[in-house]
Amino acid sequence: MMRSTFWILLLFGLGSGLGLSFQRPVAVQSKWKAPAWADTLKNPYANRVEEALKMGERIYQQQCAVCHGPRGRGDGPAGMALNPRPADLTSKAVQAQTDGALFWKISEGRGAMPAFKGMLSEAERWQVVTYVRTLARK
Ligand code: HEC
Repeated sequence: MMRSTFWILLLFGLGSGLGLSFQRPVAVQSKWKAPAWADTLKNPYANRVEEALKMGERIYQQQCAVCHGPRGRGDGPAGMALNPRPADLTSKAVQAQTDGALFWKISEGRGAMPAFKGMLSEAERWQVVTYVRTLARK
């Protein structure tokens, strides 16, 4: 008796589990591409990286790490439930983009990724872009 109740409950559990996963839409998200003109934006810190890193790191740890993780791997506590998940900033796919493209994405946001143009000054956004470069996988 106990045994069959166990199996019925197990099946029930499996069934509702499957039901849930059917109800949850899989996000069909187009690849996020910055406009071509963004590639022409020049990072004002390109030749004075050291100057940008201190503030860049502070901003990153305060505003970005909660989703992208302290080391940029896309594993921050607030990002776990997001779909799509926060990008892995250490990845080739991100690091291969120009500073301008990253600046544009950070400024504009998309979906759960906030638009930082109203929250961070232009200089601050470039500082954080400069810091993101240091997260590249080695
Ligand atoms: C609330 C969570 C959250 C916060 C906070 C956040 N992001 Fe994101 N970020 C995301 C998500 C989710 C995506 C993926 C968006 C998409 O592809 O539609 C993303 C995407 C990105 C991308 C684009 C990566 C690619 O695939 O090209 C960059 C760059 C980025 N974030 C940098 C940052 C920086 C820098 C900060 C802090 C200033 C920040 N993010 C703060 C959630 C967040």
